[in-house]
Amino acid sequence: MNTLIDNFSLDSSDSGDAHVGRGADRVDGHAKVTGEAKYSAEFTPPGLVHGCVLNSPVTRGRIQLLDTTAAQGLPGVLAVFTHENRPELDWYHHDHKDKDTPTAHFLPLYDDRIHYNGQPVALVVAKDRETARYACSLLQVQYEEEPHQTSLSRTRDDPEGQTVPRKTPSPRGDAAQAYAQAPVQMRAQYHFAIEHHNPMAPHAATVVWHDNGNITVHDKTQGPMSTRDYVCDVFGYSEDQVQVVAPFVGGAFGLGLRPQYQLFLAIMAARELQLSVRIALSRQQMFTLGYRPESIQTISLAAQNDGTLVSVMHEAIQNTSQLENFEESTVKWSGVLYRCPNVSLSYALTPLDLYTPTDMRAPGAATGVNALEQAIDEMAYRVGLDPLQFRLKNYADRDQAEDKDLSSKELRACYAQGAERFGWARRSAEPRSMRDGHELIGWGMATGIWEAFQLEASARATLSSDGQLEVATAAADIGTGTYTILTQIAADALGLPLSAVTTKLGDSSLPWAPIEGGSSGAASFGSAVKMACDSLKKALAGQAIQMQGSPLATASEADLVFAKGRVSLKSDPACHVSLADVIRGSGKDSLQAQASTAPDEKSKKRYSSYAHSAVFVEVRIDEELGQVRVTRVVNAVAAGNILNPKTASNQIMGGIVWGISKALHEHSMLDDHIGRFMNHNLAEYHIPTHADIDGIDVIFVDEDDPHVNALGVKGVGEIGIVGTAAAVANAVYHATGKRFYELPITMDQILMKGTGIQEG
Ligand code: MOS
Repeated sequence: MNTLIDNFSLDSSDSGDAHVGRGADRVDGHAKVTGEAKYSAEFTPPGLVHGCVLNSPVTRGRIQLLDTTAAQGLPGVLAVFTHENRPELDWYHHDHKDKDTPTAHFLPLYDDRIHYNGQPVALVVAKDRETARYACSLLQVQYEEEPHQTSLSRTRDDPEGQTVPRKTPSPRGDAAQAYAQAPVQMRAQYHFAIEHHNPMAPHAATVVWHDNGNITVHDKTQGPMSTRDYVCDVFGYSEDQVQVVAPFVGGAFGLGLRPQYQLFLAIMAARELQLSVRIALSRQQMFTLGYRPESIQTISLAAQNDGTLVSVMHEAIQNTSQLENFEESTVKWSGVLYRCPNVSLSYALTPLDLYTPTDMRAPGAATGVNALEQAIDEMAYRVGLDPLQFRLKNYADRDQAEDKDLSSKELRACYAQGAERFGWARRSAEPRSMRDGHELIGWGMATGIWEAFQLEASARATLSSDGQLEVATAAADIGTGTYTILTQIAADALGLPLSAVTTKLGDSSLPWAPIEGGSSGAASFGSAVKMACDSLKKALAGQAIQMQGSPLATASEADLVFAKGRVSLKSDPACHVSLADVIRGSGKDSLQAQASTAPDEKSKKRYSSYAHSAVFVEVRIDEELGQVRVTRVVNAVAAGNILNPKTASNQIMGGIVWGISKALHEHSMLDDHIGRFMNHNLAEYHIPTHADIDGIDVIFVDEDDPHVNALGVKGVGEIGIVGTAAAVANAVYHATGKRFYELPITMDQILMKGTGIQEG
């Protein structure tokens, strides 16, 4: 921690009403349920006009002819932008590297080339959205089509199919040899489908045009600063000409980490027309943006007869686009999660004629760990150990991959408490041995792991003479509860009730903050807010002592306590001044402090930090119909200090629901002949409904981590999904005696394999 104040020990914890650690309601809950909270398509400046995007129906080739005459002739149409008349921008000729994926960015309307099905080829701007949409249908486009490749499996079988090897953690030992010599081996190939993010609010940008040429941008973004930097870089604005205001996000899950094409097109149109412009994408168009890539993974494990793991090999191939290499940490977890002397990992990308994949909740881990954990389950059966016993036998107490100690790891407690709550001890090991009438019952489990990240961030704390505290940082709250936890941290720091604190986020005019991603928000923004408040507290303490006629005049800072909106003597609480009086005594309207924090590099060199989870799942499978229902989930999580158990367990629950969905429902289906996602709507792209989700129990085990960061937090946004799909798949095995290596596991797969035949 980049400490601005050293050894400052004013203590508010003895105020007896600490907020951190309590399940406070969302401070933005009222605004959200009343519609007061505004999302990017809900800002309506005067004179707003609307854009509608036409997407390519072909997958690869070029635009031969794009006739805009009919569209332009339609009353109400203001402009049609295509690659032929789009403004010239320097940016088209250099690569913008964004904060999330530091590679070349897709350039909308760059030229006549079509790189993927759904690529934007024209933007119509009209007085209203309906006119713009209708005008889009009047655009006449002729394409020259070229053969495309959108199937990962087919490319893989094709001897000329390209793969691009990417860097992975170095091997240790000799995994191939250890495998060959071990008495017990397993090898399996896992194939996971593409998934789309499908946030509740589709992507939208509203660009407000100001007379002086400046713009205010409302866009779905997980990082207002990152979006501002993109806009400045692409359009040549200076930082003071662009303000990004995105206080609420409406779901993003990674898809808001990168600026998407609606932002570029809306700004381009606003500049050309000198008007405020909104582009709101349709649900169908949400399938023309990023997604979790398709993956084919091969995992080979070997063990001694007693169940000691001696070899782990994990190879993964995922698709990327022809435009850029999108990579994620898919295989690295396999070198970390279990104690094993011999590990080899490989990771490669196959470029396809699709848009570039994008980070999606627990990118890499949701893919790699779910495959590993299915393999671990299979191995446990091979060596004749209970899956939980097998994991405990191979428990890793340090990070062998990086040869470092762990800052903390309470995974054993997750296993113990999760198993206890679930009733794992009552499980009968034999597959197909538990049933209830015509339902096969399966109990499965898996482990989750996610890295604890922290990024540099700044925050400001301002106390006004009415005793109200405002904390502010340019971070986004992507729905995770950031407003609430920052309010709790600030309230505790100055001994205030939550009602005396306002948290401002989602605005690039506030102190600098990084993207909210990788479950880093609590550590990054939380640390910055804490430090800004501590710094303000020091100033307030000084002022409280100095101010004219202060009852605390003879005290020193260390004698003071901040509680109930007052500064008091620790030894005599009756001797106090209110914070409001301290401000008034200063002769100013408010006192302010700002702080910047960064990860502690020394500690990072010494320790690896991961959040862990143990997921236990019960499935019931109708033997005749092959229908799987997940009837119980217990997920025990060790993620350091839990700032707010209520919002944190909401995060874990969301991750679990998605994990169930990954295991059983979500599948973006490509028609490889056309190269398009065919189920591009929420009727055919299956996400779980309430009827698909039953009992979910979240446990946070105590995990005290003095090293990870000043708040002791590891983040909870992603760990909930990691491992959950594998636990479901393992439960399906336990129920049916059949292994399913493809996710999602659908009814037809279960029926085809047969629920009634035990695996040999
Ligand atoms: Mo997350 S995929 O880091 O929003």
